[in-house]
Parts: sequence; C-alpha cells; structure tokens
Amino acid sequence: MLQQALDERQLPLLLRMNDQQPCSPDRWPQRRQELLERLQTHIYGVTPPAPDGVESQLLRQDEHDLAGKAITRQILLRFATPHGGFSFPYHLFLPKLDKPAPLIVHIAFRPSMPDRYMPVEEIVDNGFALAFFDYQDVSPDRHNGDFSQGLGACYLDAATRPADAWGRIGQWAFAASRVLDDLLKMPEIDHSRVSVAGHSRLGKTALWCAAQDERFSSVIANNSGFAGAAIASRGHGEKVSDFIRCGSSDWFCPRFTTYLGRENELPFDQHDLLACIAPRRICVGSAALDVGADPQSEFLSCLAASEAYRMLGYAGLVTPDRFPEPNTWLHEGDIGYHLRPGSHFFSRSDWLAYLAYLKRHEPGD
Ligand code: GCU
Repeated sequence: MLQQALDERQLPLLLRMNDQQPCSPDRWPQRRQELLERLQTHIYGVTPPAPDGVESQLLRQDEHDLAGKAITRQILLRFATPHGGFSFPYHLFLPKLDKPAPLIVHIAFRPSMPDRYMPVEEIVDNGFALAFFDYQDVSPDRHNGDFSQGLGACYLDAATRPADAWGRIGQWAFAASRVLDDLLKMPEIDHSRVSVAGHSRLGKTALWCAAQDERFSSVIANNSGFAGAAIASRGHGEKVSDFIRCGSSDWFCPRFTTYLGRENELPFDQHDLLACIAPRRICVGSAALDVGADPQSEFLSCLAASEAYRMLGYAGLVTPDRFPEPNTWLHEGDIGYHLRPGSHFFSRSDWLAYLAYLKRHEPGD
C-alpha cells in the first residue's frame, strides 16, 4: 500500500547519480554532494564557507537555575564575515551531571522564557543540555524581501541577489552551525550526541542545517511541511504560491519562485533533503490537523529517504504497511516519525516523543 502511495508521487530517483549510474555505498559521499548542490541551486541558496572560528563572551551565568538542577549561561557569539563582524546572543542550559550531556540546539521563534514551544525544565530533567537562539536576531523575518539587515547583509549586496543567493532559512541554519562551533569547545557537552531542532519554518531550517553540517548526529523537525520534511510533488499541503502570497518567499533563494505552479517539476524532492542526513538520525513529527504541512507527505518523505539508509546498511523508517493513525510513534528505525493529534504547534508531547527517541537511539555510556 505505501509503495503504491510513493509511486503515485513520481519522485526523482534518489540513488541514481548525475552520470546515470546507480549509487553504491562508496559513491554515497559524492551523491550527497550532488543532492546538496541541487538543494542550494533551486531552493535554499548557496551557503558561504564557515568562518575560521567563533568568539564568545559570557554575558550572564546562573549556577543554580531550575531549582539548582542546571547552570544557565547567556552568551554573545561573534564571528568574522566578508563585511565585518556579526554577533548574536544564545542561551544555554546545562544539566548538572557527572558526565558530558547530549545537546539539543533549538532554533527558536522567541528569546523569551518560559516559551510555549520549549519545555526547558523537562528537557534538562531528561539529561539534555539545551541551547537556543532567537532566529530574528540572525535574519529578521519581516516577510518583505529586505536583506539589508542581519546576517545576509554581511555576505551579499542586498539589492542584487543572484538566483541562488541564500534565503533566510540558509542564514538561520548557518547560525545554528556557528552556535555549535562554540558549544563544541565546552567539556560539559557530549560531542557525539548533538541534535538541531526546530518547528515549522524553523523545522525546515533544522533539516537544512543537519543536511549540510555532519557534526549534528540527529535532527528534530516538527511540523516542518513544504520545503521541510514533506514531499512536494503531488502533495496536498502548501505550495510555492502560499509563500509568495505571505511574502515569505525570501526564506528561499530567488529561483524558488520560478517554480510557482510547477512544484511537480522540481529536480529534487524533500526525501533528497532527508537523505543528505543519512545515516544520522532524523526525528520527524506531524500533527494530524496540520493540513498546511501535509502529514501524509511528511511521512512518505521519511519512507522514501529510507532507501539511502538501507543502501548504507541502516534501517531508515520502520513502519507497518499503512499510513499511521494519530498517537502513533514509529521509533524503531534510524528515522523516527510520530503523528500527534491536534494542530500546528510545537507541543510538550512532541518534545516527549523526540526525547524518548533520542534516549533510545543515542544512549550515553
Ligand atoms: C507559514 C508558512 C509555513 C510555515 C509556518 C511557520 O504558515 O507558510 O510553511 O511552516 O508559517 O513557520 O509557522
């Protein structure tokens, strides 16, 4: 049944190299580069090289936060760009453990705490360090195509953006990697267990970040939808026109809008994005009433990307041969998927699913 649903989407072949040869495990690094190039050229834009390093300044520290269970820090991150230094703040919660903690870098909608998308104490109680930054501090999301402020202005002339200029998603993803640069200097962090997480447009961002940055051992993509986890071809959710209408096509490279009404002609689909993360772990979460993000297309993408995992000797998504019902957790494979009842939201129950998945698949010593 699921194979038929996949066939109906007529997806581009994931494991056929550009030279038309089938991809074998030894050619996977090359195939991954081909896919990343395609994703840069047509949707997210080209990511500039990472800076030589990042500097950080401790702005504030609390040794006894969360009833004494955690150390929290507010840190100002700074790095060089072609047009001078760029800086933005991030927050860190470190559980008081006698060993390095697994880490989640959350690309957040707001700088506030508490925040309805982030059950901090529960995450820390599960033994995870949590870092987060406000995406608006990196590239302001004003839905106006103006790149004269924020990180973008440090790299490209805002007035003349080439067709493959990086959009805001690329810039937010780049920032998450810079936060990781800093965190990997800290002995309190377990470098082998590092996730990047986001919801909705920031779920799209988390996936693009993990696809490019192999230091992330896993990714959490909540309700990420179109240009996130969801297969675009013949889908039932958002389309390019929705982004143009809302003024949010600047999340992408300028070429993206040329696919208006031509989503089925994109030379890739989102299973390619997920596959670039293989064989690292992916946790995708959908909400049953989230028609915009199209849960069925998010699920099918996990299934289609599993082909790359299997080719590399991993399981990918493990599922019975049917679409999941609400309240299903599919946590057995290297790709985890859950379908939550309710609407578009980064819910506590989503976090509990992700934490359970990570604890099962990335256990400590
Ligand atoms: C809009 C957008 C979605 C996105 C969502 C969000 O609804 O069209 O694609 O996921 O915003 O980020 O909240």
